[in-house]
Parts: sequence; structure tokens; C-alpha cells
Amino acid sequence: MKLVLFGGKGGVGKTTCASAAAVQLADAGNRTLLVSADPAHSLSDSLEQEIGPEVQKIEGVTNLSALEISAERLFLKFKEEHGEEIKRILETGTYLDEGDIDDLFSLSIPGLDEVMAFKELVELMEREEHDLYLLDTAPTGHALRLLALPELLDEWIRVLARMRYKYRYVVSRLARREIHESADDFLFTMKRTVRKIQGLLRDPDRCEFVVVTIPETMVIAETRRLVEELARLKIPVRRLVVNRMVSSEHGACAFCHERWQEQRGLLQECERAFPQLTLFKLLERPHQVKGFQRLRELQFPVRWFIEPLGAPADRSIA
Ligand SMILES: Nc1ncnc2c1ncn2[C@@H]1O[C@H](COP(=O)(O)OP(=O)(O)OP(=O)(O)O)[C@@H](O)[C@H]1O
Ligand SMILES: [Mg+2]
Repeated sequence: MKLVLFGGKGGVGKTTCASAAAVQLADAGNRTLLVSADPAHSLSDSLEQEIGPEVQKIEGVTNLSALEISAERLFLKFKEEHGEEIKRILETGTYLDEGDIDDLFSLSIPGLDEVMAFKELVELMEREEHDLYLLDTAPTGHALRLLALPELLDEWIRVLARMRYKYRYVVSRLARREIHESADDFLFTMKRTVRKIQGLLRDPDRCEFVVVTIPETMVIAETRRLVEELARLKIPVRRLVVNRMVSSEHGACAFCHERWQEQRGLLQECERAFPQLTLFKLLERPHQVKGFQRLRELQFPVRWFIEPLGAPADRSIA
């Protein structure tokens, strides 16, 4: 069982790579689940099939299932289930009034909706119904917020726990009795969930983040920031896909030749910038890459995810 996240700047081809890899991995007999955590879902578009917020089998590709996680929907469910407990914790520990608490406890808490998406993913993985889980993430900034979230949430839980502790201390002194409320259970459960997400994302045997980029100076600069940030978060990154490369076999086309020359220089820049990563270039296709046939033709290097773990990664550009 393995989780592969696809991330990068907007429009570089994350959804296309995730979908292409999913179709080919399923073709090779792996039970594959393709998941989108990008609020602007586009798996339906890429696979040319309507995909909803529940796991569903993809018609036309054996072994492939997909879902587009609705973080907002999960968050509402979560609020229904735990809202009262969180409010109670906040009320007992602070001098905030109801209104403040409502503000605090809303979707605007940065990333709380997204942790819901990861929680759902972890739960799906625990069912072990698939061999591989591929996650299409939102464009860079957003994806980073999602990945940094377990740390933020951890902090949040610490603060809440401290509030609970103070409250419990006061109450037990006054009432001379130990109290245990569902709010405490909630904190422990959240803490466990956060740990689980963190553990999964940082385990190189179970998870890797494939970074997608294109040969453009600005995009490479942002890719560098993403790779640095992922290293800081201790998320394993081993490979970089350089998408939309023009072919060196361009015949007499002067335009293509010039583009190829420029891209070649930028590819070398990528090699210098990311010496620790295996680079792979994907060719620019003459058409949009949508639907099973074209996704297969992209020939995404899926051997990456099925070769035995720990096999030596070749540094060469395919
Ligand atoms: N190698 C390629 N050749 C030609 N077209 C491509 C290639 N890769 C991706 N595309 C096209 O580029 C467009 C953007 O790709 P995609 O949606 O995968 O990017 P993305 O990184 O997921 O975007 P977003 O950041 O908006 O989620 C799509 O229309 C896709 O078909
Ligand atoms: Mg996308």
C-alpha cells in the first residue's frame, strides 16, 4: 500500500500526471484509487467521467476507482459531530463569547477543512481496499498549507488541551471530583488523527510526493521553493517530472528547434537545482491530454511506484 501525491504550480499538469499514472497502474493490475483534494476538482474532466465525493469504480478501466473529496462536506459533517465539544472546550477555557467562538470555529480557520480531506484519505487507506492511492493536490500554495496543517493542528490541540486542563483543575478543586467529558475524548482522537496523518506523510516506505514542473524560469523558481518546503516538512520527495518538453526530433521546424534549445538549457537548470531528485521529462502532446487513450499515450513512468522499494533511482533523464 502506497500513497503518491502529485503537486506543483498551477497548470503544470498535476491532474494529468495523476490520472495518467492511475490509468496505467490499474492497467498493470494494481488496485488503484485516484483521489482529488483540490477544491477545484478536475478528475472528471481528465477521465471524461463524472466523479463524485464517494469512492466509485471507473467504467472502462478495470482496477481503477476515484473520488473527489469534498472538504467542505466533510467539515460540515465534522462540525455536526464535534461542534458542541469544541465550543465547550473554548468556552470553559477562555473569556470569549459565543460570537467570537463561532468566528473561530468556522471554515476560515486556515486549513481545518483540508485536514478533513486527509482524515478521510487516511480512513480510506485503513480499509486496505487498494494497493495504490494517488492524490491530486491543489496548486502549490494551497497544497503546502494542507501539508503544513498537521503541525498547525497539533499546536491548536495543545492550546485547547491546556484550556481543558486549567478548567478541569479549577472544577476538581471546587467540586472535589474528577471530571471526564467527551471534550477530552475528542482532543485525544484529534491528536491521534493528526499523528497518523503526519506519520503517513513522512514515511518514505508508504508515501512520496512527486513534484511536477514545466521548463519555464518562473515555474522552476516556484518548484524550488516547493521542494525546499517539502524537505522542511520532512515529506519524502524523490522525483521531478518536467512536463511539456518539446521533442528533439522536430525536423525542419525552426520554431520547434528554438523552443527545444531554450528548454534544453532550462532542463539543465533543473538538473543543477535538484541534484537530489530523479528527473523525468514528459513530452508536450499536440492535443489536450484527456480520456483514457491519451492518458495512456503520455507514458507516465509508473514503474517508479511498482518497482521494489529502495531500488536505486537512476539519475538520468529518460
Ligand atoms: N504533456 C502535455 N501535452 C499537452 N497538453 C498537456 C500536457 N500535460 C498537460 N496538458 C494539458 O494542460 C492542461 C492543464 O493540465 P492539468 O489540468 O493536468 O494541470 P494542473 O497542474 O492539474 O492544473 P491546476 O493547477 O489548475 O490543477 C490540461 O488541458 C491538460 O490536458
Ligand atoms: Mg489540477
